Amino acid sequence: MKKSISKDVRQKTRRFFNLVSAIYPFIERSLDPAYRNALAMLDLDPQLDVLDLATGTGLLAGSFAQRGHQVQGLDFADKLLQQAQKKHPAVSFRSFDLINLPEIPDNSHAIVCMGYLLHGLDAEFRHHILSQAARIASNHVLVFDYWRPGNLFVRFIEWVEGPHYPGFLAASRRDEFGRAGLDILRAFEFSQNGKVWLCGAGPS
Ligand SMILES: C[S@@+](CC[C@H](N)C(=O)[O-])C[C@H]1O[C@@H](n2cnc3c(N)ncnc32)[C@H](O)[C@@H]1O
Repeated sequence: MKKSISKDVRQKTRRFFNLVSAIYPFIERSLDPAYRNALAMLDLDPQLDVLDLATGTGLLAGSFAQRGHQVQGLDFADKLLQQAQKKHPAVSFRSFDLINLPEIPDNSHAIVCMGYLLHGLDAEFRHHILSQAARIASNHVLVFDYWRPGNLFVRFIEWVEGPHYPGFLAASRRDEFGRAGLDILRAFEFSQNGKVWLCGAGPS
C-alpha cells in the first residue's frame, strides 16, 4: 500500500477527529440547516436507503433519516460516533475504517453519501473512496464538500487537519468523479463555501 493511505496517516486522522469532538457541536450549528435544505431541494425518494461514509456525529445521516430514509453511518472516530448514536437513534452507526470499503458488496445501498470527507484526503485516497462509492451505490453517490476557500478560521482549521485541502480545491471534481465512473447529474451551492454534487452510479 502506498504511503499516502498508510495506517499511520489514518491513525493520525482518527486521533485528530477524536480530539476535536468537543468543538463539533459548534460546527454543526450552521451545517445542520444547510444539509437539511440541500436534501429538501434534492428531494430524493425516501424508499432509497443511504450509506453515509465518514458520518462523524451523524449530521447528514440524521437529515436523511428525518426524511424517512433508512440510514447506516460509518466512521472510525469513536468519540464522534458516540455523539452520533445519542443524537440520531434512528440511524445505525458502525465503527469502520474506509480503507476497508472493498468488504462492502456491490450495489448494496441505493445512495452512498459523504459530507466534508474528501477535502481531508490526498488524491489517491479520494479515488479509492469515490470508486468504492460508485461500486457500492445502486443509484446515486452524493458528495458535500468545499468548492472554494473558506474564511481565515476555516483555512486555519483545515491547515491543522492536514495538508490536502489546497490540492483538493485545485483539482477538478468532474475529472475526479469521471475517473471513478461517476457522472455529475446535478450540482449546486448549499452553503457559503460548500457545494453538493449528485452523481449517477450503478450499472450503465
Ligand atoms: C470533517 S468530518 C465530517 C463529518 C460529517 N460527515 C459531517 O459532515 O459533519 C470528516 C470525518 O471523516 C472521518 N474519516 C476520515 N478518514 C476516515 C477513514 N479512513 N475511515 C473512517 N472515517 C474517516 C473522520 O473521523 C471524520 O468524522
